[in-house]
Amino acid sequence: MNTDLAFRPVRDADLPSICTFARSAEELYFLAPRARFPLDVDQLATSIAQRSDSRVVCRGDQVRAFANIYKREQGACYVGNVAVAPQARRQGVARFLMQQMARLASARYAASELRVSCFNRNTAGLLLYSRLGYTPFALEERLDGQQQPIVLIHLRLPLAAT
Ligand SMILES: CC(C)(COP(=O)(O)OP(=O)(O)OC[C@H]1O[C@@H](n2cnc3c(N)ncnc32)[C@H](O)[C@@H]1OP(=O)(O)O)[C@@H](O)C(=O)NCCC(=O)NCCS
Repeated sequence: MNTDLAFRPVRDADLPSICTFARSAEELYFLAPRARFPLDVDQLATSIAQRSDSRVVCRGDQVRAFANIYKREQGACYVGNVAVAPQARRQGVARFLMQQMARLASARYAASELRVSCFNRNTAGLLLYSRLGYTPFALEERLDGQQQPIVLIHLRLPLAAT
């Protein structure tokens, strides 16, 4: 399954395509709460520069998903900016992306845990992480762009020692 997918470091030429992944202000908020909709190359390049290990998933020459690591602390790698192209969703692309990010975290940083954070209104994201075995360990109250209460759910996945 999904043997046609490739995982590699992001390139400058990928950025315009990644900017189209968030279809709405709400989707962009889910993957980059501080960004302004629509995402543009400048905002994305700034996020990439502030983070590490930005990676894409490709099918052929098409970029289909994006993620990176925004923090490393006490054996945990924090994965963020997770997004899949709208036309590639529900095909196992995010599953593949997160499996590859876990392999990267183990191999490069000897991480014992992967962490992600997901807003309570993001049903697809929560079901994705739940399906992959992540479990919630903390809730954080935030205000969204309309100053309405929203909950950021912090989840983790232990990584097998290699
Ligand atoms: C959330 C997101 C990354 C999922 O990407 P995806 O490639 O469609 O996910 P996958 O196909 O790998 O799904 C794996 C599993 O997650 C769950 N899942 C993913 N999307 C789902 C949806 N829309 N509804 C219900 N379950 C869903 C399912 O269990 C799915 O397995 P199945 O298809 O065998 O039932 C994608 O919808 C997205 O980019 N959303 C906008 C940005 C965002 O929310 N990013 C996450 C920030 S925390």
